[in-house]
Amino acid sequence: MGVLDGKIAVVTGGAGSLGLASARRFVAEGARVLLVDRDEAGLRAAAAALGGRAETFAADVADATAARAYLDAAATRLGAIDVLFSNAGISGAIRPVTDYPEDVFDAVMAVNVRASFLACKYGLPRMRDGGSIVITSSVVGVTADPGIAAYATAKHAVIGLMRVVAKEAAPRRIRVNVIAPGPIDNGFQREVEKGLSGAIGRDATAFLDGIIPLGRHGRAEEIAETVLHLASDRSSFTTGSVIMADGGMHI
Ligand SMILES: NC(=O)c1ccc[n+]([C@@H]2O[C@H](COP(=O)([O-])OP(=O)(O)OC[C@H]3O[C@@H](n4cnc5c(N)ncnc54)[C@H](O)[C@@H]3O)[C@@H](O)[C@H]2O)c1
Repeated sequence: MGVLDGKIAVVTGGAGSLGLASARRFVAEGARVLLVDRDEAGLRAAAAALGGRAETFAADVADATAARAYLDAAATRLGAIDVLFSNAGISGAIRPVTDYPEDVFDAVMAVNVRASFLACKYGLPRMRDGGSIVITSSVVGVTADPGIAAYATAKHAVIGLMRVVAKEAAPRRIRVNVIAPGPIDNGFQREVEKGLSGAIGRDATAFLDGIIPLGRHGRAEEIAETVLHLASDRSSFTTGSVIMADGGMHI
């Protein structure tokens, strides 16, 4: 008996590292899953990795029409949504604010913030009472570092969104929480660290390991376990919360 038996889950950024790892846990615990991503080849690979046990939908989650379309597809192809994991994200540039490109700022805000707003706006009417929304923020949703004006602003913003929606959705017993991962050993973070190494003039991976109390990067599977906890009734009295999964980096 799985903790998500019979549940319907939607995962955005489902072709990526944290989305796929979470979807893998959802499927293993009995959920039927719709993976949403703009990367069509990645979606095919992700569905294959799940042994064909997930549906896919290609969409730009920051576009309102596309957001309605993927949420409609979930509801019509699978049924009313129990779990909505708004997880797609991009990191943007590493530049001082005085030199930060405006188009990159807008793109980062669109994928990280506007897309989560759209997921909540169009997802809630398609959700079953008692469901769970999880939004991916970051350790820099509660802290900040030089050079990441767009990313840190976006990851802070989704915490505000989550708190509002948690209060609005509570009468329907729909819980809304944020997962805030620290640096993960995956391709997304490796790209970030390439840029960061240039900016700080030393190896960013070793630097980060040095400031994370647990002394290492996280694994996608560790984040997926925490997302599963928030998605399932195991966290039935948790809403409006920011759950840190960062090896203590925010302390
Ligand atoms: N990797 C880390 O260290 C880390 C740490 C903290 C937070 N995060 C956050 O975790 C989330 C998942 O990141 P990941 O590490 O799995 O990276 P990833 O790049 O592997 O996955 C992100 C996915 O989002 C998709 N995506 C991007 N823009 C999209 C759009 N407009 N529409 C649809 N899909 C889009 C990408 O195609 C990709 O598959 C992101 O929100 C990221 O900011 C990651």
